[in-house]
Amino acid sequence: MNSLPIGIFDSGVGGLTVLRELRRLLPAEHLVYLGDTARVPYGNKSRATVRRYAEEDVQFLLGQGVKMIVIACNTASAMAAPELRERFPGVPILGMIGPGSRAARAATRNGRIGVIATAATIGSGAYEARIRASFAEKGGVPEEILAQACPLFVPLVEEGETSSAITRLVAEKYLAPLRGAGIDTLVLGCTHYPLLKGVIAELMGAGVALVDSAEAAAVETAALLGERGLLRGSEEGLGGEQFYVTDAAARFHAIAESFLGYAVDRLSLAELGLGL
Ligand code: DGL
Repeated sequence: MNSLPIGIFDSGVGGLTVLRELRRLLPAEHLVYLGDTARVPYGNKSRATVRRYAEEDVQFLLGQGVKMIVIACNTASAMAAPELRERFPGVPILGMIGPGSRAARAATRNGRIGVIATAATIGSGAYEARIRASFAEKGGVPEEILAQACPLFVPLVEEGETSSAITRLVAEKYLAPLRGAGIDTLVLGCTHYPLLKGVIAELMGAGVALVDSAEAAAVETAALLGERGLLRGSEEGLGGEQFYVTDAAARFHAIAESFLGYAVDRLSLAELGLGL
């Protein structure tokens, strides 16, 4: 059981930020990644559609014999995580919202927290609810939670525009309501946003801690596997990686190699047999 892979899925390439953190933290684990590149983006779709896609993604990963699933997509986590856990009770399923929210609660000093994410994630109110729940666990309440959808960030990152003038302009527009609002913590509630950390940090200033939900999710994955005695031992050597996409494998391959900085040898088209 311990040698089985961790399954990770995202709507496309964005979840590679989570895979990279998992690899860093858990070098002995085998990882299977599914990017639903045929149906990306999820962030502007309805709850019913995202749930259906996410369910099909989980089913595919279960077919690969995974011991745990990480929903490396904030939108799918926000819109489908509770239903996925109910539907697939036999496997631990970790989403991004809980880890990101707990990390934000731990990071804030003044209780004023900003959240940026896709329109679907912000519209779901999932981060706000989880941040409040996380404060409540410690018997407190946040001072204020400010949420802001940043729909153009994903296409900008997809096009490699991570630090250009156009990205800065877009970021200035989206972050304007958050700057000067007194927040000391900002949750990067989308897989793509860690790639914009430079621009976001510069605009928000040194007094605002950026919470990377990918990092937080990797830390909680390690903790969950440890608690359940499911970690693969380091004496067994380095873990391998298998990647699947539902479309456009060549594009994914190029982005993955450039982002991860190593050769991605095992990439296949996933035959999900799905309608769009
Ligand atoms: N992976 C999505 C997220 O973290 C961003 C890309 C998309 O909209 O599908 O919300």
